[in-house]
Amino acid sequence: MTSAAESHWDPLWAGGRRYRRMTDTESALLAEHLGPGHGRPALDIGCGDGELARHLHHVLGYRTTGIDCSPSALALAADEDTGPRPGPTWQRLDFAADDLSQLPDGAYAVVTCRLVYRWMDDKPAFLDRVRSVLAPGGTFWVVAEVVGRRPESDPRAYLAITEAEAELLVSGWSVVRTADLDVLRCFALRP
Ligand SMILES: C[S@@+](CC[C@H](N)C(=O)[O-])C[C@H]1O[C@@H](n2cnc3c(N)ncnc32)[C@H](O)[C@@H]1O
Repeated sequence: MTSAAESHWDPLWAGGRRYRRMTDTESALLAEHLGPGHGRPALDIGCGDGELARHLHHVLGYRTTGIDCSPSALALAADEDTGPRPGPTWQRLDFAADDLSQLPDGAYAVVTCRLVYRWMDDKPAFLDRVRSVLAPGGTFWVVAEVVGRRPESDPRAYLAITEAEAELLVSGWSVVRTADLDVLRCFALRP
C-alpha cells in the first residue's frame, strides 16, 4: 500500500527534484565521528538517491542498507551505484509507519538520517524507532538544517528544524557531539 510519505516524496524524485550533495568537509566529519565500518551494519534512513549510503558502504566499509519510502529515489540509488559489488542493499520502507522487522538486520552499529528529521511529523515516535534499531554503543548520525542560519526572508528558511526540535533530538543520549557546516548541523548521538 502507498504510504502518505511515498505519495509526497515519490513524485518529487520522479519529477527531477534533487537535494544538497555531500561536500568533502561533510565526508571528513562523517569519517571522524563514525570511524571505519569493518563490515558492521549501517542503516541510512531516507537515503534518497543514495549518496550517503554509498559513501558509508564503499568508502567507510559499513555493510549498508539504504531505505526510502520513494521507489523512484531507490531506482536512482541503485543506478548510481557504480562501486564494487556487492553494493548497499536498497529497500522500500516507510520508516515512520512500516514494520521495522522487515529490515535485514536487527541492530545497526550506525544509523544515519540526512535532511530527513525535519520531515518526520511525529519526532518523538521517530526517535523511539531509531533507538529500537541502534545497537548498544552505536552512533546515530543526523544532518539537519538549523534555524537562524538564513535570513528570515530567505524562502528556504522553512527547511530548518526549530530549536525545540533540535533539543528533542539531542535529549536522552549519553554522548552528544555536534559540528556545524554553514546552514547545516551534524549530530553524532550515542545511547
Ligand atoms: C530531503 S530528502 C534527503 C535525501 C537524502 N538523505 C539526501 O541527503 O540527499 C528526504 C528523503 O527522505 C525520504 N523520506 C521521507 N519520509 C520518509 C519515511 N517516512 N520513510 C522513509 N523515507 C522517507 C524521502 O523520500 C526523501 O528521499
